[in-house]
Amino acid sequence: MALAPMVRRTDRHCRVLHRILAPRSWLYTEMVVADSIVFGRATAKLDFSQEEHPIAVQLAGSDPSIMSQAGKLVEARGFDAINLNLGCPAGRATAGEFGACQMKSPTSVARLIETIRGEVSIPVTLKCRTGVDAHDSPRFLEEFVHAVSEAGVDTLIVHARKALLTGFSTRQNRNVPPLDYERVRLLKSRFPSLKVHLNGGIDNCPTVRSALLWADGVMIGRAAYRDPMFMARVHQEVHGQDPGLTVDDVLLRYRKYVERELTRGTKLQPMVRHIAGLIRGRPGSARIRRCLGNASRSSAAGLEVIDNVLRMLRRLPDDQLVH
Ligand SMILES: Cc1cc2nc3c(=O)[nH]c(=O)nc-3n(C[C@H](O)[C@H](O)[C@H](O)COP(=O)(O)O)c2cc1C
Repeated sequence: MALAPMVRRTDRHCRVLHRILAPRSWLYTEMVVADSIVFGRATAKLDFSQEEHPIAVQLAGSDPSIMSQAGKLVEARGFDAINLNLGCPAGRATAGEFGACQMKSPTSVARLIETIRGEVSIPVTLKCRTGVDAHDSPRFLEEFVHAVSEAGVDTLIVHARKALLTGFSTRQNRNVPPLDYERVRLLKSRFPSLKVHLNGGIDNCPTVRSALLWADGVMIGRAAYRDPMFMARVHQEVHGQDPGLTVDDVLLRYRKYVERELTRGTKLQPMVRHIAGLIRGRPGSARIRRCLGNASRSSAAGLEVIDNVLRMLRRLPDDQLVH
């Protein structure tokens, strides 16, 4: 199982929160454009904590020389795998010749993979769509996957819908083209030795259970961010172990991380913003989220913000809140 890469969501703090919830899941960085690594603009995005292993960095780019230089740099940083983004439908990505548009050129993608693999020893995996624009037949997907597996990719994460590169926003591209799990299942049956992970629209345990009858894993994005406790339930489904965590437990463990980071000078707000999903749907959640937002904006705010959330969740009277 894996937490999906999500720009402006799955930063290092979010990933640590998810590590608490799903101790064995793969975590992915947000997409990082290879140029920004090679030319030194994206170093903060490559920071991670030791507890995040196993962690994959997601790279975007199409220039073999820049991608392999970026590959060497991220390997030296200690990442466990490199994942190539071949699914991003954003106009910016298409203009920069990376993301979903690359699926239209399987031979270039294969060459790119071979070049990167020639420079690094960690695995290179792919995240792609079932197709792009008019290139959306089962045969197209099979030929694409044949080319990338020949180039040495043994793990593929498939967002089970095609990408439409004109006339649809990035957001629409996550919702409008219909999900087609059957297409991904068929792909797995054609390439039994390839590890195929299913992504897209997975938001409940029965779907996880039925996907795992044929898929090698599931990758979860929005449902995990919206309701982080879902990842603990998926962990139980996948590994048969109940992590036995309550929201209280998760917050207490995350509090330790926040304490450690505060002493290193990390700001509070980027860390506590990921807590909002944990609280959603609980009694008094709107009020707690408001307090969380207000308090964490103050530069003097510290651990008392999390302590107050814990008190409010335990429904202690207001005079026991720390101001
Ligand atoms: C806010 C947001 C940012 C995303 N950023 C990325 C990204 O950086 N790289 C990527 O491959 N996919 C990205 N995605 C797509 C997700 O990884 C995932 O493929 C998609 O949301 C479908 O899975 P889900 O239905 O479980 O969310 C993003 C999705 C969202 C909602």
